[in-house]
Amino acid sequence: MTKFVLASHNPGKLKEMSAILEDLGVEVVLPSQVGVDAEVEETGETFEANALLKAKAVCQAAGLPAIADDSGLCVDALGGAPGVYTARYGGEGLTDAQRYTLLLNALRGQTNRAAHFVSVVACAFPNGDTLTAEGRCDGTIAFAPMGTEGFGYDPVFFVPELRKTFAQMDGAEKASISHRGRALQAFCKELATYLGK
Ligand code: IMP
Repeated sequence: MTKFVLASHNPGKLKEMSAILEDLGVEVVLPSQVGVDAEVEETGETFEANALLKAKAVCQAAGLPAIADDSGLCVDALGGAPGVYTARYGGEGLTDAQRYTLLLNALRGQTNRAAHFVSVVACAFPNGDTLTAEGRCDGTIAFAPMGTEGFGYDPVFFVPELRKTFAQMDGAEKASISHRGRALQAFCKELATYLGK
């Protein structure tokens, strides 16, 4: 098995990545398992730039291939905001519910509710090669939160195709249509080609 380091401490992401990359003979490990730090400042202006920043930093520190993802929510009526600032929307120290409530307030009286989530998965190799893959999920911002599953903005992100918010879907259903699920599937194909599998 080839070892890849995940540029994140999130065990949920580790589980997701491991499941999808196992078939390619890739073992995904956390930075702490190879004695490196994964804290990288996200100073890029695009999801791709931030994902590459994280993957390259961890790859360099570990001397092993590294995978990172960066994601966020883009709202049409807000000119694409919060975008790369989604995790920090409203400032530091807010709960998920406080952040999505701020978003609902920002859209009060707004009839254009169109929005999309984006996820970019990036991989950096010690020889300098990089791979990136993007996934997108289109939806609308609901008028009020619905559902209890998931995290972040899930209760207010409504997917018209399924007539549910992300928070009303179970993990498998969400992964089949979500930005991250789509980015991971695309990444898996790219990696298979790169590895000649
Ligand atoms: P990052 O990709 O960890 O930098 O953070 C992206 C931010 O976007 C997270 O903090 C979440 O608030 C939000 N986000 C990304 N993906 C999802 C999702 O699938 N559901 C809800 N919120 C999400």
